[in-house]
Amino acid sequence: MKLPDGPKSPPIMQVIQWMFNPLDYLEEAVNRYGEIFTGRIGLNGAPIVLVSNPQAIQQIFQGEFKEFGFAIEQKKFLEPLVGKYSVVILDGQTHRQHRQLLMPPFHGKRMQTYGQLICEITAKIMNQLPLVQPFVTRQVMKKISLEVMLQAVFGLQTGESGEYLKKLLISWLDFLGSPIRASFLYFTFLQKDLGAWSPWSYFCRLKQDIKQVLYREINYRRQNYDPERSDILTLLLSARDENNQGLTDEELHDEVLGLLIAGHEITAAAMTWGLYWIHHQPHVGEKLLAELHTLGDFQDPVSISQLPYLTAVCQETLRIYPTAIAASARVVNSPINLNGYKLEPGTMVMPCTYLVHHRQDLYPNSHQFLPERFLERQFSPYEYLPFGGGNRRCIGAALSMFEMKLVIATITSKYQLNLINKQPIKPQYQGFLLAPTGGVKMRIISQRQPLKPLAIAIPN
Ligand code: HEM
Repeated sequence: MKLPDGPKSPPIMQVIQWMFNPLDYLEEAVNRYGEIFTGRIGLNGAPIVLVSNPQAIQQIFQGEFKEFGFAIEQKKFLEPLVGKYSVVILDGQTHRQHRQLLMPPFHGKRMQTYGQLICEITAKIMNQLPLVQPFVTRQVMKKISLEVMLQAVFGLQTGESGEYLKKLLISWLDFLGSPIRASFLYFTFLQKDLGAWSPWSYFCRLKQDIKQVLYREINYRRQNYDPERSDILTLLLSARDENNQGLTDEELHDEVLGLLIAGHEITAAAMTWGLYWIHHQPHVGEKLLAELHTLGDFQDPVSISQLPYLTAVCQETLRIYPTAIAASARVVNSPINLNGYKLEPGTMVMPCTYLVHHRQDLYPNSHQFLPERFLERQFSPYEYLPFGGGNRRCIGAALSMFEMKLVIATITSKYQLNLINKQPIKPQYQGFLLAPTGGVKMRIISQRQPLKPLAIAIPN
């Protein structure tokens, strides 16, 4: 099968470069081979066609299941993490059904009910930080996003089992954050029990502990079912298919774990980047503060989330270093012509978000942080795709944007922070996401007075 041209180094070298230095890998390849090229970066070095042409991405996102399915390679990669029944790895009809089940709590009014809680969680966690002492922003953002996921989305109470689950999840996700330790996900031959402390054994042991706690919670919630609760676990517990069958414990477990894995770390990394940019470019922070002042005392979550400059700051944050460097790989199901390339069934294709977000024709001076570009023009879903697209578009997109805006607004309006290190921070590919190297050290200089409307114009 003939594939588009691409880097020639041995597959194992390409996977290693992708794991440790993906941005250089992508930029070198796109400069040399153009906007559609083949990289050997799949599981065990399998070829994937990487796409950064918006028309071709539109074709992929608009394709039906008969044209593009979920890549089996990706399924093999994700299954050790989320199990067999998470929407993240399902395909075809079952995938569609699970998405229908999961979407409602992540949209509209339902989601807005979490707004107040997000602001309270942020203030509570930030208030625990001592003045002037450095802290690692990413650790604090992880605490906030995990708390939001556990309380607002899954309705897990604080208390002993909630705390224990939190501890286990943090250890598990931290462990996966290291490309070396997580290399068994790329190289399946490393998925072997090589003694108690080998990465795979440690990973499996922690996963088993998490499973036990989640099963206990599911059992408890089944027996004490409360239809008044608005969290997603309650909704999933009451969901029935056309044969009036509910989800099994295993299905519920995989779905809940899949959402936690898909949503927690990535939102934390995005919020960390947001705080970094606001403080690295102080004029951005000043403009944001002036915009927050326009709300005065009326700081309700929905009004905050509709502020245009805050929205543009969050959009630009997810453009310049998209925390998900690419959308999920799709597999070609029937022969297609993708921008002049004839691709046969079985070919894997992957829309490459980072490369689209750095196209100079769409984003001039793409390496500069310029929120104004989002105020000046609109981008199509194939030109701006931090949450992927089509029938696999991120289920948590609206929730995570809402959370990101509220957390950044709460912190900016209540605290004056500064960066410990003024040097530009480089991104690092950690596990599956593009996170700031070192986690961004900051400190609180002072607490701000409650915001009042200012009689000044917002600076340009
Ligand atoms: C800034 C935060 C986030 C980013 C950048 C992000 C990005 C993405 C991307 C790129 C995809 C793949 C889409 C595709 O292949 O077309 C995805 C899928 C997914 N995301 Fe997110 N995500 C974020 C937060 C969340 C949150 C908070 C949740 C849930 C609570 C979540 C749940 C999911 C799920 C379940 C999928 C799989 C959807 C499917 O395959 O049908 N994500 N996300």
